[in-house]
Amino acid sequence: MSKDSTTRTFIVAAVLCIVCSILVSGSAVSLKPRQLENQKLDVKKNLLLACNLIKNKNASKEEIEDAFKDIDTKIIDLETGLITTSIDVESYNQSKASKNPETSIVIPAKKDLAGIKRREKFSKVFFVKGPSTGAIKLIVLPIYGKGLWSTLYAFMAISADTKLVKGLGFYQHGETPGLGGEIENPKWTALWNDKVIFDENFQPALKVVKGQALASSSNIQHEIDGLSGATITSNGVTALVKYWLGDHGFGPYLANLRNEGGP
Ligand SMILES: Cc1cc2nc3c(=O)[nH]c(=O)nc-3n(C[C@H](O)[C@H](O)[C@H](O)COP(=O)(O)O)c2cc1C
Repeated sequence: MSKDSTTRTFIVAAVLCIVCSILVSGSAVSLKPRQLENQKLDVKKNLLLACNLIKNKNASKEEIEDAFKDIDTKIIDLETGLITTSIDVESYNQSKASKNPETSIVIPAKKDLAGIKRREKFSKVFFVKGPSTGAIKLIVLPIYGKGLWSTLYAFMAISADTKLVKGLGFYQHGETPGLGGEIENPKWTALWNDKVIFDENFQPALKVVKGQALASSSNIQHEIDGLSGATITSNGVTALVKYWLGDHGFGPYLANLRNEGGP
């Protein structure tokens, strides 16, 4: 076959394509476990940052794993508010479960404050233990809902008696940097610390107000400063927090905890 023949050109191109596709798919398959491990590590890091158990966004794998030793993960049935052991914590993919019709439910429009249309039936809940006593100090809840441009994902840490916010960290969103994107500013999330979650009837009462939360307000214990130029994102945060702490979210679980006198 001549060196410049059309057939030879096609054969060389075809062999090159096959070799390249084997290389690309081979590396995708071999890197998959490492990607999954990194995703899991990222979730742990975001949770630890939300609880102020680590301060550094660039914490090493060792630092993250070490801090995570004081955290127990359980899965709860959101409807009954009971812990279940029928699902394996390690392999449960909550994000996938929230989209699968078999493992999620449609949220009635009236109750869909977070604007997410459907939610998973089971959710992970994280318990932060005190290092010396082993007593549970914090409960961490994964929460999410619509902002202006995107779905906002966060971890909220609350006190073991379910009364106070003890940390909030937004780790994924597509809001505008400097406007809605300020939800991830530690100075703003710090304003949530020690805010009182429920009113006297155990209804969620936290609210991001427009402008500054005034010390003279009769609801100051529930109120957080609004983000300027980002009222839509701020309202989205109020709504998603209200949804997840309410009857359709973690409400039944938190009520069980109060009735039982703690986790
Ligand atoms: C390019 C652009 C990006 C914006 N991004 C956001 C945003 O991320 N979150 C938000 O609530 N408002 C955003 N806004 C502003 C909203 O359109 C709206 O004006 C604002 O939420 C009203 O808030 P304010 O009453 O505090 O000004 C953006 C506006 C523009 C023009």
